Amino acid sequence: MANTFLKGKRILLGITGSIAAYKAAFLTRLLVKSGAEVRIVMTGSAKDFITPLTLSTLSKQAILTDVSTGEAWNNHVEIGLWADVMVIAPCTANTLAKLANGLCDNMVSATYLSARCPVFIAPAMDVDMWHHPSTQSNINKLKSYGNEIIPVGVGELASGLEGEGRMAEPEDIVTFLSNHFIQKQDFGGKEILVTAGPTFEALDPVRFIGNHSSGKMGVSIAEELAERGAKVHLVLGPSKLTPAHPNIELTRIMSAEEMYQAAVGIFPNCHAAIMAAAVADYRPKDFSDVKIKKKEGDLFIELARTKDIAANLGQSKKNGQILVGFALETNNELENAKRKLKKKNFDFIVLNSLRDKGAGFKSDTNKITILRKDNIIRKFELKSKKEVAKDIANEILDI
Ligand code: CTP
Repeated sequence: MANTFLKGKRILLGITGSIAAYKAAFLTRLLVKSGAEVRIVMTGSAKDFITPLTLSTLSKQAILTDVSTGEAWNNHVEIGLWADVMVIAPCTANTLAKLANGLCDNMVSATYLSARCPVFIAPAMDVDMWHHPSTQSNINKLKSYGNEIIPVGVGELASGLEGEGRMAEPEDIVTFLSNHFIQKQDFGGKEILVTAGPTFEALDPVRFIGNHSSGKMGVSIAEELAERGAKVHLVLGPSKLTPAHPNIELTRIMSAEEMYQAAVGIFPNCHAAIMAAAVADYRPKDFSDVKIKKKEGDLFIELARTKDIAANLGQSKKNGQILVGFALETNNELENAKRKLKKKNFDFIVLNSLRDKGAGFKSDTNKITILRKDNIIRKFELKSKKEVAKDIANEILDI
């Protein structure tokens, strides 16, 4: 029963002006029956083939047909960001060309450009239009943007000609979308420790020494592993994030010492540990129970080294346990990362450089290089932290 995978999913359906638009009503019905939330945007010419009233009745949502109603602006940005996936079905040759080239003159093309989610396109056109090099070049362009093309069917076409170009049947489109949501459980039965976020080292009851880590990278890794079936022990420093996956057991800590205690307790039962936390290397040597009062002159704070959690796990690591470290560098990146890889007995280290735009603590993206202890080096493009988490999970499977 593939359809159960669509339950609760937010599906944005774009409809354009093809005779196959009538099938969008069946598609909407199937998606709603599968438990998905469906919102619909359509072009002006799509309305010649199917009415917004039919579609709003089936989806139980207002249909957006124009970027502006004259009095109000329809928010294509909001709806584009809302969606888990966008599917454009049917997609005419005209709309394909617009999407491939960034044209933006109606609600469907505007929403397409605003959507950050995966986009599925179900083309519909006559056989010769489909085979035209111009259409095929647009299809290839859209694939290069990461869009998925739902294969066209073969058969009798509205023109009376026979051949390729029919829109895929609504049932097939539903199966295609369901497959997207079926998550491989390739970490099933594995237990993994992830450290994430900053640590705060208290000076007194109101002050601390900390860093700018948001915890996004480590939390994305924990979520990726959990979605793929692992039981994840996430030891998280003071971060605003709260991961909610049922496979994640969350331990919240403040200081490096607390993170150390939690991690050494958990690691012996784990298959792997990923040290994504930005742990403070120093803490104030003395903690004042009462708020430190200001005085004349400067204040000197003596700092003491914290325990190196990763190095400790690296020493106690048993055969078969995998240990992954991070290195955030500003200069001599490869050299520093190689040194840390060896020193802490990591199986691989994930290097990111603050010199790369879009990499670092607060951004939603990261650009990494993986250095393995067997000297394999892999460089990755700038990607969302979610995609980076996939690459790191895949590397663990690879070794
Ligand atoms: N790490 C740790 N415990 C610490 C310090 C670091 O577990 N007390 C881990 C980090 O989570 C990361 C790796 O070790 O995986 C980073 O190594 P480290 O040499 O500490 O890097 P930096 O903190 O950047 O240190 P340096 O000042 O040497 O650049």
